Amino acid sequence: NIYGERRNSKGYDLSDAISLQQLQTQLNELSDKQYQAKPLIVGEVTGNSSRTVYNPAVQSQIVGEVIDANEQDVNTAFTTAVNFKQQWANTAPEVRSEKLEKMADLMEQHLPELFDLAVREAGKTLNNAIAEVREAVDFCRYYAAQVRANPAGFKDPRGVVVAISPWNFPLAIFIGEVSSALVAGNVVLAKPAEQTSLMAYFAVNLFHQAGIPKEALQLLTGSGKTIGESLTTDERVNGVIFTGSTDTAKRINTNLQKHDSLIPLIAETGGQNAMIVDSSALGEQVTIDVLNSAFDSAGQRCSALRVLYLQKDNADYLLELIKGAMAELVVGDPARLTTDVGPVIDKVAQQRLLDHIEVMKKQAKSCYQVPIAKDVAENGIFVAPTLLEIDNISQLKHEVFGPVLHVIRYDAEKLDDVIREINSTGFGLTCGLHSRIDQTQREWEQGIQAGNLYANRNIVGAVVGVQPFGGQGLSGTGPKAGGALYLQRLNNRTAWNFDG
Ligand code: NAD
Ligand code: ALA
Repeated sequence: NIYGERRNSKGYDLSDAISLQQLQTQLNELSDKQYQAKPLIVGEVTGNSSRTVYNPAVQSQIVGEVIDANEQDVNTAFTTAVNFKQQWANTAPEVRSEKLEKMADLMEQHLPELFDLAVREAGKTLNNAIAEVREAVDFCRYYAAQVRANPAGFKDPRGVVVAISPWNFPLAIFIGEVSSALVAGNVVLAKPAEQTSLMAYFAVNLFHQAGIPKEALQLLTGSGKTIGESLTTDERVNGVIFTGSTDTAKRINTNLQKHDSLIPLIAETGGQNAMIVDSSALGEQVTIDVLNSAFDSAGQRCSALRVLYLQKDNADYLLELIKGAMAELVVGDPARLTTDVGPVIDKVAQQRLLDHIEVMKKQAKSCYQVPIAKDVAENGIFVAPTLLEIDNISQLKHEVFGPVLHVIRYDAEKLDDVIREINSTGFGLTCGLHSRIDQTQREWEQGIQAGNLYANRNIVGAVVGVQPFGGQGLSGTGPKAGGALYLQRLNNRTAWNFDG
């Protein structure tokens, strides 16, 4: 193992009654805590427009207040970053690693607040919140270990890196972007999604407590249209790490092309992810994996299953199993342990999903929706987990980012066509196959153009250092996050020596 003794984070054991009780007591104590977020820059903050954050599951509940940065704050942050970049680049790579390791420890010491923020700001279930923090901890330790294994490879960083992240992994992706850039020797200007600024502010404070200088990591809260644009159009940017929608990645790419120099961009974007299930698959296993892939996190994962291809011969049987299991899903407040599917992030996302379902219902051969209790629907922003049987993947004009599963039946002898159809979307993030036939597995593996392929399992939840994650085509530029090559893109000299 070139990375020494690194182990993935253990997370939190909810099956242990004592730990669970302890955690519930801690979460109850935090249940009406109000958090705050504001720009964290070295210099005067002039942005003063504030907004209130509400819990997406219980709209009457305030979770905190955010003050957004303005363009002047972006300018101040760039000046600080440029002045400090050489000092941070000169800091010994091992010292940078040490600070990331300290950050990982600090996150493990602040689990209740991080879980609380993931649940109440981002609408995550407790299980998802635990996975979220584990991934963030893993990113820090993994990238730190890579730099420790080859300090000489990380002495020529890019400079000022802008890190722009989405709301659906408000801690893990935010930390993955920021920690990688920092440990590779870059100074970072971080812009989190508007919807999850409270989590980002909490995390940046922990980074500073861990010893990352305030000049090396600054936080710019605010919208993509204002702060995101200012950050990516400024001539002083030396690199951009972006995770979010394909449209935004294209917009950033266009902005970067207007710069005098060539600015490297890492973009991780959306998907139109499919799973193929043939008649040799095990029905119960398929059911578990389909539900998990399509509806976990209310389908708000870039990796989530959007299109399920069922071989005609066993489609009726599988659909009966899947709908039966869907009927058991509990949709509700993710603060409750019994909840399977939480809210969607905001009303804009909800409306977009409801419009899509409305349109598709008219085209679909059949539709099944999980009922939502009246009080749940009235209190929060929910979308019923929905299954729609359609004819062709081309009926989907864009990524459907929520708990909506489309099902297509296919003829056994037409696997080639199915693979071609999936590739024709232009996306290439995740893809699954349930089959016990070796030849089918080989055809699928060779034919599908996607970054992460999963056979006979679910298609979500890539683990840092185990399943490097990222797509191709409309789904991203690579290199894969949590993989051996990621840090190289953040350095000018990609000196990599596998012997350390
Ligand atoms: P989004 O593209 O709307 O926003 C992502 C980030 O970009 C936010 O911080 C936003 O403020 C910022 N932004 C928006 N416009 C900008 C602009 N013009 N200039 C600069 N920054 C701008 O995406 P989202 O709704 O926050 O997240 C959901 C999307 O993210 C989905 O498409 C999902 O598939 C994708 N995603 C991809 C991955 C991956 O690893 N491939 C992981 C998570 C999410
Ligand atoms: N890395 C996340 C997953 O695999 C997006 O689900």
